[in-house]
Amino acid sequence: MNASGNTLRFPGRLGLGTWKMGESRSAHAREVAAVTRALEVGYRLFDTAEMYADGAAERILGEALRSFGAAQRPRLCIVSKVLPENASRTGTVRACEASIERIGCDYLDLYLLHWRGSHPFAETLRGFDELLRRGLIRAFGVSNFDVDDLAGWLEDEKRVGVAGSTHCNQLDYSLDTRQIEAQLLAWQRARDIQTMAYSPLGRGALTRHPLLLQLARARGASAAQIALAWCLREPDVVAIPKSADPKRVEENWQADGLRLSSDELEQLDRAFPPPRSRRRS
Ligand SMILES: NC(=O)c1ccc[n+]([C@@H]2O[C@H](COP(=O)([O-])OP(=O)(O)OC[C@H]3O[C@@H](n4cnc5c(N)ncnc54)[C@H](OP(=O)(O)O)[C@@H]3O)[C@@H](O)[C@H]2O)c1
Repeated sequence: MNASGNTLRFPGRLGLGTWKMGESRSAHAREVAAVTRALEVGYRLFDTAEMYADGAAERILGEALRSFGAAQRPRLCIVSKVLPENASRTGTVRACEASIERIGCDYLDLYLLHWRGSHPFAETLRGFDELLRRGLIRAFGVSNFDVDDLAGWLEDEKRVGVAGSTHCNQLDYSLDTRQIEAQLLAWQRARDIQTMAYSPLGRGALTRHPLLLQLARARGASAAQIALAWCLREPDVVAIPKSADPKRVEENWQADGLRLSSDELEQLDRAFPPPRSRRRS
């Protein structure tokens, strides 16, 4: 346990995203195969949400996990999210129970509020508190929160007296979306809140970018691996690229071993400049 009371540690720096999975019947077998391949090559962190294909992405994850074996469950980190419109106290609990049912696991390792909605934070936090106490989640967090949202959320967390503390903020972070570097990244670091980078491939666009393709060619790597290695240059950032292609799932996994040189990082900074104001935390 660290100073803020968080006990969850992510198993590795890369996880598999599942947004857009479960949307078409014809893609089903390939999507299950992609998640299965992820398990085979070593991914242990999986990100999903009740929103993704109305729960069908959670079912795909569950289908792949079943073949992995119940004994391996403690080594996995399964993340799902409650939709803001469901995030009342009782709605949060119901949504989590439904996600667990669809995935076919007994508990979630991390449960996030998908983005800020109209339910008061205290309500959602009371729902998270009940889920923690019942052992249905190991940790909780948020997604798409800025510094002001997070400051208010943390105040309410104290006020409500939740059994745990906010573990993570899942945020849009990639070479072409660097806004969190202005303030949020350092602010979270100072409070021991983990940054989980979503859309680390720029939703696929970075895998076609000329500079990334050029840097990749020179190293015998792929542009996707360069984009992921860039996210992982921050020692405490975890990234969750999505692919429904078993070969790409494996290719993305190899990015963990890639360290970009200062020359490569400078070239990338010139092409994708960091935000101007890096305010203090
Ligand atoms: N909290 C939030 O609000 C939020 C928002 C967005 C995303 N997320 C989470 O973050 C995950 C990742 O983000 P994302 O899905 O938006 O975008 P992403 O991971 O940046 O990019 C996914 C796209 O890149 C393609 N791709 C993957 N690996 C590739 C490779 N090696 N070479 C070429 N193309 C490749 C994928 O196509 P194929 O599948 O065909 O390979 C897909 O079109 C999501 O799946 C979801 O779990 C969370």
